[in-house]
Amino acid sequence: MISKELFLLQSNHNKTKRNYLYRMQDEKVNCMKVAKKYEKDYWDGKRRYGYGGYKYIPGRLTKVAQKIINKFKLNNSSKILDLGCGKGFLLFEIKKILPNIIINGLDISRHGIKCSPKSIKKNLRVYDARRPLPFKDKYFDLAISFGLFHNFEIHELEKSILEFSRVSKKNYMMVESYKNDKELFNLQCWALTCNSFFSTKEWKWILKKFGYKGYYEFIFFK
Ligand SMILES: C[S@@+](CC[C@H](N)C(=O)[O-])C[C@H]1O[C@@H](n2cnc3c(N)ncnc32)[C@H](O)[C@@H]1O
Repeated sequence: MISKELFLLQSNHNKTKRNYLYRMQDEKVNCMKVAKKYEKDYWDGKRRYGYGGYKYIPGRLTKVAQKIINKFKLNNSSKILDLGCGKGFLLFEIKKILPNIIINGLDISRHGIKCSPKSIKKNLRVYDARRPLPFKDKYFDLAISFGLFHNFEIHELEKSILEFSRVSKKNYMMVESYKNDKELFNLQCWALTCNSFFSTKEWKWILKKFGYKGYYEFIFFK
């Protein structure tokens, strides 16, 4: 059987240093409230609210973009969707490598989309991914969703994962998770927007239960 777990994103995620205890004690409940609006403070405000300033850095996502292109054999006639695309930097990077690829990005954040690169802004749209997706069955060759689904509550997950699967021939999602108590503790300290705190075992169980047949990746807080 082909393994559906991928490991294309973890190395980028692990490059960041995180002070877990500091975050936990820094008025975290209030910071979570602010972060969950996904607006300017979350992206470009203080680190306590989210990214702490999320700018396009040339080259930062090039390797990831290339890995995705290779893994899913994307080419200039492919169509891809990024669900929860944020500022659209990954789509932008993929399009730099494959200029004629058709891209679509959806995200709930007005600020995220507003700050996306000018050349792809027309392909991005403010949209709540908990709603039915406005695309035909299998319209895309690949749908990706990185860092989105763990923000949903469990009752929202089933429908949104089914929709994500429906609109594309292949799917690849990444969620926050943990394999042991230390990673659970760190995740609980760090996460501002997460609502689904599940171990890798639980995620695999949930995905199977929902009939998800796509690829998935977990990131951890070590
Ligand atoms: C951790 S960020 C990941 C952004 C981007 N995918 C990346 O990997 O850099 C989570 C993203 O999910 C988006 N998001 C959260 N809830 C959402 C919802 N209900 N519908 C659509 N996007 C949502 C946020 O605005 C944010 O862009």
